[in-house]
Amino acid sequence: MERPTPTDVEREVSSIDMIVSKGDAEGNITYTNPIFMKISGYSQGELLDKPHSILRHPDMPKVIFKYLWDNITEGKEVKAFVKNLCKDGSYYWVLAQVRMAKNPDGSFRNYVSTRRSVTPAAKEKIGELYAKLLKIEQEEGVEASEKALGEFLAENGQSFDTFNAFMTELNK
Ligand SMILES: Cc1cc2nc3c(=O)[nH]c(=O)nc-3n(C[C@H](O)[C@H](O)[C@H](O)COP(=O)(O)O)c2cc1C
Repeated sequence: MERPTPTDVEREVSSIDMIVSKGDAEGNITYTNPIFMKISGYSQGELLDKPHSILRHPDMPKVIFKYLWDNITEGKEVKAFVKNLCKDGSYYWVLAQVRMAKNPDGSFRNYVSTRRSVTPAAKEKIGELYAKLLKIEQEEGVEASEKALGEFLAENGQSFDTFNAFMTELNK
């Protein structure tokens, strides 16, 4: 499928919306709720078995997805702001909560992401941070942007251990 050309049109996610999807071990989509399809502009048929990166926006720094995968594969939940790309090139911001779900016998079942709306203040702060991280990783690589992300957390009195709580706090 051809990748949409990003536009500067933003789609509003309402504060009552909960955008849900599930993925297999590789991140391929196995389920989406109706709001996911409505906002992204894709039909269920266009989404099922496709990688979640179908939504990847070029403004997103790689380090955020590295952090996501490093943690969810370990069974740790991640809360992260994500700017997603719609089928028509527009975008929307979400605060995603991604976790591994397990079967009753403890084996891997799937990954589940629930996404909520983002406040204007968080969009501004995180938009600035992500632009900085993207520039650093384009010039110096992901290791450098991971260091810069750690510095951002430290400047705010936080660390990777308090990442989820801090992201939740930023969205208040
Ligand atoms: C359950 C789940 C939900 C995900 N949701 C998104 C999403 O909404 N947007 C996105 O860009 N990546 C999402 N990802 C991450 C993608 O799998 C992928 O790592 C990311 O899009 C970066 O793609 P790339 O590694 O091909 O650059 C999700 C992953 C999982 C497991």
